[in-house]
Amino acid sequence: MATLQIRGPVRLSGELTVHGAKNSTLPLMAAALLCEEESVLHNCPKLSDVDVSTRILRRLGCKVERQGASLRIDPRPADDWEIPDTLMREMRSSIVFLGAILSKMGKAVMSFPGGCELGPRPIDLHLKALRRLGVEICEDYGCLTCTVPGKVKGASVNLSFPSVGATENILLAAARAEGITVISNAAREPEICDLANFLNACGAKISGAGGSTIVIQGVEKLHGCQHKVIADRITTATYLSAAAITGGNILLHGTEPEHLLPVLPVFEECGCTLETSGDMVWLKAPRRLSRVRSIRTMPYPGFPTDAQPPVMAMLTLASGTSIFVENMFENRYKHVGELLRLGANIKVEGRVAVVEGTSRLTGASVEAADLRGGAALVVAGLAAHGVTTVSGVRHIDRGYESIEKNLSILGADVSRVFS
Ligand code: EPZ
Repeated sequence: MATLQIRGPVRLSGELTVHGAKNSTLPLMAAALLCEEESVLHNCPKLSDVDVSTRILRRLGCKVERQGASLRIDPRPADDWEIPDTLMREMRSSIVFLGAILSKMGKAVMSFPGGCELGPRPIDLHLKALRRLGVEICEDYGCLTCTVPGKVKGASVNLSFPSVGATENILLAAARAEGITVISNAAREPEICDLANFLNACGAKISGAGGSTIVIQGVEKLHGCQHKVIADRITTATYLSAAAITGGNILLHGTEPEHLLPVLPVFEECGCTLETSGDMVWLKAPRRLSRVRSIRTMPYPGFPTDAQPPVMAMLTLASGTSIFVENMFENRYKHVGELLRLGANIKVEGRVAVVEGTSRLTGASVEAADLRGGAALVVAGLAAHGVTTVSGVRHIDRGYESIEKNLSILGADVSRVFS
């Protein structure tokens, strides 16, 4: 079992290149299945979730090869439509393969993804939308058996909540459907635009991605293409939080500053100086951060729920009281109990967390219970006095490539210890 051992406090400084977005790479890999030719995805992060998607594609019959940060996906040999339970359990977002498999094969079998560490993760919106597109779905004993009589049919789909995964599944199912699909109240996340851009580069006819209404005119065939995955905005926000809590001064390359608009004001409010230019973000933190009045997690372009844990860790050392309201997931405060072990002062009442800034954190043994919560513990550990040992590193490896190496580049004393 691996742990991360962090000796603090340190002041982060230096330059780092941020990897491609996990939450773009996964649906893009599913999209590559829809094509009639090979596609190459560049800027793909080396993450365990990407490995799970690779295993899913291979299980379906695709050829997948990694060369550095590029994934070459050849969907031509694909001949299977079933994702085994073991792979579905490894990654809840495997559900994003459903729309693509249905469109390609006309049928799909997979287990219901069920709940996860963030609380219940229903897929009712995905299923309702796919039924609107003519898919017949049987939910039995935790298993989804889906068939498409003839072809997927374009339809208008009104989402009651702008679900990211449901919007992706509809795009994937509708890109090669018969007729026109209109998604109302679609998710507006940058990862949706990245998916639509990839599909359009392959010959799809999708307009409106990034807005609330997306129109998809189904096409007969998609060819392959070469595509560069967008930067990971959550990883960027995590490294900015790490720099800010340590009073640091860092320059991040390979970012998409426009996608950071919902988070950058928070760093400014707590006293950091920020500059963006091209694909760079520079942050210089004050000696002590100020509190941030309130942070409410919302669908894009609101403040992202995935950035809530690392930003909360950052504010544990700010002067004053910061308030968080988590509106996206029921169980996204699991890092709070572990931050308390490091000396943070946080009270949680339902969706609200009140963070009273303290002047000192002290190293302790803590356990990551989920991906972003794990990143929060690393952020706090960098500023804590003494050694912080973070277990549950497998969660962190789902979303952060070589986190210990990257933080070491910025001057942190972090190592991965195997026992
Ligand atoms: C995506 O999950 C991301 N995952 C999550 O990132 C992110 O937290 C989330 O979007 C919100 O931004 C990937 O892109 C792989 P949703 P997704 O469907 O698609 C409810 C990370 O740390 N809902 O927009 O599952 C749901 O319960 C991960 O990288 C329904 O009720 O998010 C939740 O409360 C974790 N029924 C809310 O909507 C449905 O059918 C948002 O879910 C679908 C969703």
